[in-house]
Amino acid sequence: MGKIWTPNSWRDFPIKQQPIYQDMKKVKKVEKELSSYPPLIFAEEARQLKAQLANVANGDAFLLQGGDCAESFKAFNANNIKSLFQVMMQMAVVMTFSAGKPVVKVGRIAGQFAKPRSSDTETINGVEYPSYRGDIVNDIATDLKSRTPNPKKLLKAYNQSAATLNLLRAFARGGMADLNKVHSWNLNYMKDHTLGEKYEELASKISESLKFMEACGIKSSNTAALNQTTLFTSHEALLLNYEEALTRKDSLTGDWYDCSAHMLWIGDRTRGLDEAHIEYFRGIKNPIGCKVGPSMKEDELIKLIDTLNPENEAGRLNLIVRMGADKIADKFPKLLKKVESEGKKVVWSSDPMHGNVEKADNGYKTRDFDNILGEVKQFFQIHKAQGSVAGGIHLEMTGQDVTECTGSKSSNITTNDLTSRYHTQCDPRLNADQSLELAFMIAQTMKEA
Ligand code: PEP
Ligand code: CO
Repeated sequence: MGKIWTPNSWRDFPIKQQPIYQDMKKVKKVEKELSSYPPLIFAEEARQLKAQLANVANGDAFLLQGGDCAESFKAFNANNIKSLFQVMMQMAVVMTFSAGKPVVKVGRIAGQFAKPRSSDTETINGVEYPSYRGDIVNDIATDLKSRTPNPKKLLKAYNQSAATLNLLRAFARGGMADLNKVHSWNLNYMKDHTLGEKYEELASKISESLKFMEACGIKSSNTAALNQTTLFTSHEALLLNYEEALTRKDSLTGDWYDCSAHMLWIGDRTRGLDEAHIEYFRGIKNPIGCKVGPSMKEDELIKLIDTLNPENEAGRLNLIVRMGADKIADKFPKLLKKVESEGKKVVWSSDPMHGNVEKADNGYKTRDFDNILGEVKQFFQIHKAQGSVAGGIHLEMTGQDVTECTGSKSSNITTNDLTSRYHTQCDPRLNADQSLELAFMIAQTMKEA
């Protein structure tokens, strides 16, 4: 890494997973326009998230990060935003109630557009097209015009992110998060009675406690903690020209922040130590994440930590472990042992999605709920054996009633069901029932721990 960091010093390093545009003049024009737009977040908010993540690192809070694999322009509407908000609130109360710890809520939302791909092109019916890289780059339709990267989509993604964040802030501060509404978060397509009843039972206990507190004078009309919440935003910062354009110097501290989201992460395919993404991330002061997949080596991980978190600050760095249910027992314990033995302060979270992708017999890309659950359970067990903190969970999920991941008690989705409501732009997501079911399981595990 070079010594002097600037928002564009990443441009001197090799970079992976970027679109190839036909007209670089148009790209430059868009970058210039984006850099004149207002930031989407305020640096102080990123510092607040960092402080909350420091609590997670110390075991005093739990991180719930979730949302779409890829947001899309087509599925952009208030209902989808609202249902994700509601299911995350439900999951958070379930976990808070059982474990007695605050849940830090971070959405994969308001900027989660760009996707890394295993290949630059894909061949469909004998024709080779550029791969779909997310709505911020090109269109998923299979014709050459749609698949050609279009820089104007960067502006559309910014505008959609701004509108999404605006609604999220309204929900969080405007009354939707009031604990007195805990019953109303229950999404009405809860087909599974046991799960729905279990949630209603818990919601009733909360309502009862609220009544008692109100009698003591503590009520939502005079206590912000009871009627408001914070849902932070995050995405994989893949397109570094977009992130650079939204990187701003904080007027209070003089530090640089990526103001496209509160938290950003580096994907498993772009975490090379001498590459552009690491260079960019080392200079921004936001809390950041890095995916840790099965190919990660112990020494490599230590170098990565030292580069990204040289001051060893708790709350700065989240390592998002995504090994796969069949690999985590073999790959993770030695990495964890090494990091803990060197006294590195990190937030460990489990992404049980990206190591568990499979192709169903009918060709659909899916993930099985048992594998997802299996990876999460092992993640907790490995931490327990090591005496370290299992800090959080990172999920691809939606508040909609989709059929994308197979299994689970609540939805019991079969391979055949995948054809009925498979709406994802990219990877299969947990639906609202499956997400809540997982939250109950995690809550139980946390309680036992
Ligand atoms: C993702 O989180 O959407 C993703 C692509 O993950 P990974 O980098 O871990 O493969
Ligand atoms: Co994904």
